[in-house]
Amino acid sequence: MTVSQLAKSIAESPTLKLNEEARLLREKGEAVIHLGAGEPKNRAPISAILSSAAKLNTGDVKYTPADGTPSLKKAIIKYTEENYDKVVAPENIIVSAGAKQSVYNILYTILNPQDEVIILAPYWVSYPEMVRMVYGVPVIVTPEDGGFHPRMEDIMKAVSSYTKAIIINSPNNPSGVVYSEEFIAQIIEYCEKKGIYIIMDDIYHKLVFDGKKWPACYRFTKKDLESSHIIVVNGVSKLYGMTGFRVGWAIAPRELITNQTLIHI
Ligand SMILES: Cc1ncc(COP(=O)(O)O)c(C=O)c1O
Repeated sequence: MTVSQLAKSIAESPTLKLNEEARLLREKGEAVIHLGAGEPKNRAPISAILSSAAKLNTGDVKYTPADGTPSLKKAIIKYTEENYDKVVAPENIIVSAGAKQSVYNILYTILNPQDEVIILAPYWVSYPEMVRMVYGVPVIVTPEDGGFHPRMEDIMKAVSSYTKAIIINSPNNPSGVVYSEEFIAQIIEYCEKKGIYIIMDDIYHKLVFDGKKWPACYRFTKKDLESSHIIVVNGVSKLYGMTGFRVGWAIAPRELITNQTLIHI
């Protein structure tokens, strides 16, 4: 059997390895606080379960538009207005099988081989592999002060002429840190000036505690959506405990959405 060079180069999932390690330790009776897979304990809302069951019962489960059904897009538009204070058009949205697929498809859409993507440590372990899977180069930036909050000076040192994008994941997996409003404002201003895409992986944006506030991104840009470099990724997995439903989405300028849709077809 032959396997492609690319497939061979992808490392084993550290999350799955951790899951297994935690399972073995628990079997031995050890009290483990497991920070592996982000699997919320809350059950999926009963309304989502009943609506899905009702839909299945109609038998009307054929192909849907590659960029998402109009009714789901409408719900995402409402969600974006309520949570981001931003009105977006259906053409700015693409629905996917989860935030993970959205991040991957965005990278596929924007990167040329050898383009660099800045990933802020500590980071979700899938990001570097996703960048490699589309022949990009992950550039890991670790805060030099040893903390968990990224610093502009460290990021600016890592930017090169190959930098195409930066992934911002706040609230952050695995640290739980919510990046400051000041940092989000600075990174957006800096990247928009340089023409670097800012991929906001907001999948944990509602899981914020202790009076902390998550700053929604759009208010930090003066550009309209079509000329902005902000790309938002979100989904239902973490917030609603609906990891198995596999529903996520991306919001971006129309051209990027059109190109991502071509990947889905
Ligand atoms: C930062 C981050 N983004 C995305 C995902 C995946 O989300 P989804 O289930 O919607 O694909 C995870 C899952 O652990 C995550 O930690």
